[in-house]
Amino acid sequence: MNTINSIAASAFPTSATGHFDPNAPLLRVRGLQRDYPLPRTRPWGPRAQVQALRGVDLDITTGRSLGVVGESGSGKSTLARLVMALDTPSAGSVHLLGRDLHRLPAHALRAARRDFQMVFQDPYGSLDPRQTVERIVTEPLQALGSATRAELREQAAAVLQQVGLRAGDAHKYPHEFSGGQRQRIAIARALITRPRLIVADEPVSALDVSVQAQVLNLLQDLQERLGVTYLLISHDLAVVQHLCDEVLVLHEGRVVERGAPHTLFSTPQHPYTQALVAAVPRIAL
Ligand SMILES: Nc1ncnc2c1ncn2[C@@H]1O[C@H](COP(=O)(O)OP(=O)(O)OP(=O)(O)O)[C@@H](O)[C@H]1O
Ligand SMILES: [Mg+2]
Repeated sequence: MNTINSIAASAFPTSATGHFDPNAPLLRVRGLQRDYPLPRTRPWGPRAQVQALRGVDLDITTGRSLGVVGESGSGKSTLARLVMALDTPSAGSVHLLGRDLHRLPAHALRAARRDFQMVFQDPYGSLDPRQTVERIVTEPLQALGSATRAELREQAAAVLQQVGLRAGDAHKYPHEFSGGQRQRIAIARALITRPRLIVADEPVSALDVSVQAQVLNLLQDLQERLGVTYLLISHDLAVVQHLCDEVLVLHEGRVVERGAPHTLFSTPQHPYTQALVAAVPRIAL
């Protein structure tokens, strides 16, 4: 193990994972489906459903990034919620580190949450304005219990520095920060449990274009330093191209194409991917 990896490993030990095969994909999703019942328009007959996901398969290897693109309503956030075990699938499975998240007992799932965290789109809405930054970033650790006040303070200072903020920022409130800085706080909160997987749903789309690159570079830098794995959701092909090793195109709840971003965007095969690429003139091919 080289120095950087050994620092990363010591700085970011993970929870006990039993006999997980290190060569197996970190995340394995199979046949994932989610149907949402629609409100009844008639009091009789079968209830109509939206098939938000219709059988999605994907794997992500440790330390890699998978991008998911697709138009609005294609099922991207539904996929993120199911991978995060914030919602229950109608069918299919999500395995993280060999554990089937949707079949874990509640207490085991709560403990497993240490290994996967989420960054949301809106750094304004996702941070509680009444809480200090220290309280916000340590919230996932508090949910796991066991840490003392002193430990929480120390961990908050460390993780803020990791995302390019100052330890002293821990005592401020979200309104004292810019959009980009707030997203750094959200990333710090996701990092504090030393997760193996971070699911980011449109992490830069609420930010000013000039700040987007800084946040993407931070995510990339954290991956190089800590070996964290990303599932990155974006409607912006340029964002995915910047950060991801592989891209998957969702259309009406199905994966219609997948591959390396450059290949996929320069020679899209599926008509839907072609339309998606054609709709983004600013992407350099
Ligand atoms: N809780 C819900 N109840 C009913 N229908 C839902 C629910 N959540 C999502 N849907 C439906 O599922 C489909 C997929 O929604 P989803 O939010 O996953 O799309 P998305 O790809 O994230 O879109 P966007 O790019 O606009 O964020 C949509 O038709 C949506 O209306
Ligand atoms: Mg969405």
